[in-house]
Amino acid sequence: MIVTKSRYEIELMREAGKVVAACHAALADFIKPGVTTAQIDQFVESFLLRHRMEPAQKGYKGYPFATCTSVNDVVCHGFPGSYRLKDGDIITVDMVALHKGLHADSAWSYAVGEISPEACHLLQVTERALYIGIEQAVIGNHISDIGHAIQTYVEAEGLSVVRDFIGHGIGRRMHESPEVLHYGPPHKGPRIRKGMVFTIEPMVNIGTYEVTIDDDGWTARTADGSLSTQYEHTIAVTDNGPEILTRL
Ligand code: MF3
Ligand code: CO
Repeated sequence: MIVTKSRYEIELMREAGKVVAACHAALADFIKPGVTTAQIDQFVESFLLRHRMEPAQKGYKGYPFATCTSVNDVVCHGFPGSYRLKDGDIITVDMVALHKGLHADSAWSYAVGEISPEACHLLQVTERALYIGIEQAVIGNHISDIGHAIQTYVEAEGLSVVRDFIGHGIGRRMHESPEVLHYGPPHKGPRIRKGMVFTIEPMVNIGTYEVTIDDDGWTARTADGSLSTQYEHTIAVTDNGPEILTRL
């Protein structure tokens, strides 16, 4: 069942979303060559706590950290640690804030120093793919119209969409119905209704869309070692179209 959210619940998710967005904006300056992924995790955790929000990923299904820090070929769920970022790396930082019982979830990719033209294209296409998906999040469309638009655009750019991780409804729980695929046919499954809140979070690879999971049980990598990026917003469906909650 898809639980729609009240105005008050959306207001709380907007408050959480603004803190998440402010944290990402601050990360854009913080992330540079020489910084470790553990320092990024610490930065995010203290930022959220300082704004009286809980880092909801920590302890979620046993996940040990406040953030996922996914470098280069890591698709998602990378563990923060002693890895020191170097010039030319790309990194996705994923975080979820819990505020008065409601969640806001956003992941963003960052270039570290000077990156290759291929990496730059990957970042640009993935960010654009997110917004192309968001445009489809209007009352009366099908949820699957989002993924169809994303896949069509990404593949036209010669890149591939990860299948194994998807967007999701969000609210009092981090993961709720509906499932939001980033690929597939249009006009299928549930219709989009007012008050739905869900994430759109395409992961895009330069090579194959297939992923493998490390022995830690979490870290997902591209099967061919190619680069991967991700951009994610939490959005609410309103009479005036999609509202991005994880935005300043
Ligand atoms: N923020 C992630 C998402 O978009 C969830 C990461 S799983 C966790 O769904 F265990 F790290 F929380
Ligand atoms: Co996320």
